[in-house]
Amino acid sequence: MPNLIKIVRGARDLLPPEIETWNFVEALVRDLFRAYNFQEIRTPILEDLQLFQRSIGQETDIVSKEMFAWHEGPSVEQELERAWIKQYRDRYTDINFQVRVSDKASVDILAKAGGVFHIIELTNRVNRDAVQRLRHCGKLWASTPGKDPNVKLALAAPASAVVGLADAELEEIELQRLSVELEDPQWLALRPENTAGVVRAYIEHALWERPGLQRFYYIGPQFRRERPQKGRYRQFYQIGAEVIGPPSAGSESPAVDAEILEMLAALLDRLGIKGWTLELNSVGCANDRPKYLETLRAALESVVHTMCADCQRRVQTNPLRVLDCKVLQDQPIIEKLPRQSDYLDENCRAHFAEVQKILTALGVPFVLNHRLVRGLDYYTRTAFEFTHGALGAQNAILGGGRYDGLSEALGGPPAPGIGFSIGEDRLVMILQESAAALAKPPDVYIASLGAGMNVHAALLARELRSQAVIVTVGDETFKLKKSLETASKTGARFALIVGENEVSSGRFALKNLGTGEQVSVVRTQIAGLVKPRG
Ligand code: HAM
Repeated sequence: MPNLIKIVRGARDLLPPEIETWNFVEALVRDLFRAYNFQEIRTPILEDLQLFQRSIGQETDIVSKEMFAWHEGPSVEQELERAWIKQYRDRYTDINFQVRVSDKASVDILAKAGGVFHIIELTNRVNRDAVQRLRHCGKLWASTPGKDPNVKLALAAPASAVVGLADAELEEIELQRLSVELEDPQWLALRPENTAGVVRAYIEHALWERPGLQRFYYIGPQFRRERPQKGRYRQFYQIGAEVIGPPSAGSESPAVDAEILEMLAALLDRLGIKGWTLELNSVGCANDRPKYLETLRAALESVVHTMCADCQRRVQTNPLRVLDCKVLQDQPIIEKLPRQSDYLDENCRAHFAEVQKILTALGVPFVLNHRLVRGLDYYTRTAFEFTHGALGAQNAILGGGRYDGLSEALGGPPAPGIGFSIGEDRLVMILQESAAALAKPPDVYIASLGAGMNVHAALLARELRSQAVIVTVGDETFKLKKSLETASKTGARFALIVGENEVSSGRFALKNLGTGEQVSVVRTQIAGLVKPRG
């Protein structure tokens, strides 16, 4: 038997009835976001890897460890091989590519010229390492029993790559200069998040030329090569929104931050999700960040050797991330580190105070968390997460914040912005308890009984569906008992019996599968009786 092909690690099939909860959430979200004047944007799942390197940051876990990325076009090896064939193949006979010379080594090209074997290595860098590798292969070849020890060596490389080696160092090695310019291959990536794509689209389509602030929302899959566990997947879904625009349109206003947070609170309330916590922080801006980083680095200098390996690395790459460390032993040290909130400049302090003032006036509860730094580098000023106890270790339902310098970092005009992304998988997980109530079983199961009845069942089904009745249909070969059993299994509330007598008389037996009660009805009454009320 052939092996079963299984779903890839960290991906999920979303099946009925769970999918009903997803659709319910998405319909509600679209409705609510429209009321706040957001419009949908769809950006590609595939983007240039550099987009994420320059926005999320090279040193973040997402970019350094979790990207699904690959390069497009021919590899360096393929391009070198092609150039070599064009320029050199005529000199040789018996040309073979990728030939093993021992268990441990293979050579790029083995060919004959004047009856002598030549080992030719393709390289894009002619340096001592390349020379040594080639000599090593030559020796392996010559010392292998049965192989002709009289072998010649050649290095083939782009003409521009031959630098910094004295002729003497090449001695008996022939240098074959390839006329090929190796272009940097384009690296593509599956998007790990959607903010970078939205800002790229904002810049690419000059959306700042449109009046006012741009207010976008998106719903779609994202990809991160994380270790899968409950609430953490490699393909997961986000519902997000971004507000972005020139400062003159009010994009920096704390009122926008507060509006977004109020909208999120309203969304969770409307979904009936209780027990969430809004954690809020200000991570400062380009003006006050350097001073804070300097102080943080200085404070870490004397203690970092006692911290976990990740923190030791983070001090070098991005000290802010130390504040995010979850290792138990490091917590007392982190608690004593200087806080960003004490280093905010006057503008950031006033901005953050105003956000809090509006939230308090609106009755949106929040807690300040001075250690909230988020896992992406683009954030400035307001940063937030909504957490929920029911989620366990991965307790963030959503996260977001301001990214006032992101557009400029991607080569665009000044365009401060703020946004959030909800982990839809996690949101649905919280809602799952009420999923049964959300699932929509059919209103009626049409039991066609006897030869020729499938046609009549199909006609009736079409009629009912045009009146928004959810219908599922049986098969004329089923006996009555089997039909009623199948009807119950589908969860239908009614079974409608369509047999020869019913069709000729125009009266049908309608059985309430909950109560067992059965009534005889005419065609035009059916829809009104089976549709759920309210
Ligand atoms: P993030 O914090 O990386 O932010 O992700 C937002 C949410 O996506 C998380 O709170 C979580 O619910 C969900 N999430 C993240 N990774 C996974 C995963 N592997 N499996 C399941 N759910 C996951 C962002 O992505 C930013 N783009 C948010 C943003 C928008 N900031 C400004 N605008």
